[in-house]
Amino acid sequence: MKIDLLTTVESGGCSAKLNPKDLEALLQVIPKSTDPNLLVDIDTHDDAAVYKINEDTAIITTTDFFPPICSDPYEFGQIAAANSLSDVYAMGGKPLTALNIMMYPSVTLPLEGYSEILRGGYDKAAEAGCLIVGGHSIEDYPPKYGLAVTGTVHPDRVITNANAQPGDILILTKPIGSGILVAGHKLELSEKDDYQCALDNMKLLNSNGAELMQKYSCRAATDVTGFSLAGHALKMALASKVSIRIDSEKVPLLNGALALADSGCIPCAAFRNEDYVKDLTHFSDMMNYSKRMLMLDAQTSGGLLICAKKEYAGQLLQELKNVYPYSAVIGEVTARDEFGLYLF
Ligand code: CO
Ligand code: CO
Ligand code: CO
Repeated sequence: MKIDLLTTVESGGCSAKLNPKDLEALLQVIPKSTDPNLLVDIDTHDDAAVYKINEDTAIITTTDFFPPICSDPYEFGQIAAANSLSDVYAMGGKPLTALNIMMYPSVTLPLEGYSEILRGGYDKAAEAGCLIVGGHSIEDYPPKYGLAVTGTVHPDRVITNANAQPGDILILTKPIGSGILVAGHKLELSEKDDYQCALDNMKLLNSNGAELMQKYSCRAATDVTGFSLAGHALKMALASKVSIRIDSEKVPLLNGALALADSGCIPCAAFRNEDYVKDLTHFSDMMNYSKRMLMLDAQTSGGLLICAKKEYAGQLLQELKNVYPYSAVIGEVTARDEFGLYLF
């Protein structure tokens, strides 16, 4: 029997996240940890926690899991693993070990799907040089999969979303629009090649991006996932107490995404993200509706949003393009202005 995981979900991948506004309110009740070795905690809503164990090593811990974003179980496993590993890369680290997190309906779906998801995850982790050393499975419908990842970084070289400095140049490494293309695919509106290109970009590890950020002394970045380019950029602006300006004309888009948005194919996660950013974001009147919704489109296993020092930005971009051909300068960081995020 051919397994089609997409038939099990309304919204899969990172678009299945909770509303970020609700989440921030819910997290308020957790007592704050105050350990001097805890270099990055939940406070700034960064991609992962970072804990210093000695002068040379800090450990990075993070987990992500979500329902299917594509039909093929092996491909879903690869994407979910790439997405989980990405939060380590977004902190400038290297993943070492990971645990599988698996929810699978063994009564509704053939067990072959379970092993194919795991195989996809193992292969992607192996590509990252990360060992999967165990995990946990429970019975659940629809299926969900991801990793809990442990990585390391030098304590002086942690890259956070709270370190953006006025004058930094903003680089994005992967194109936007995967949420819209997946929604279009379900409605049989996406071109086959465009949809496959979206999946291929999701499978692409952010590992080289992390290495290049370290090579060019970057100290601020985040990865773009379910809260959209606008949502993650705003989180970075707020955590860093700066403003971020993005020129939407320069934001790389997946082929076919704009046309789908024009035809009204906009997943509800984009409206949830709009609700989150709208009070602190200035949208230029010049930007049309489809562009605006693309900036709010929930991404799965998206690229790195990197703050580069002006003097290194050109070289960094050139090297990034060898691995991530869509990489582009999309804006800049300024001193804190009236709004956290300006979209032109
Ligand atoms: Co992240
Ligand atoms: Co995450
Ligand atoms: Co980070």
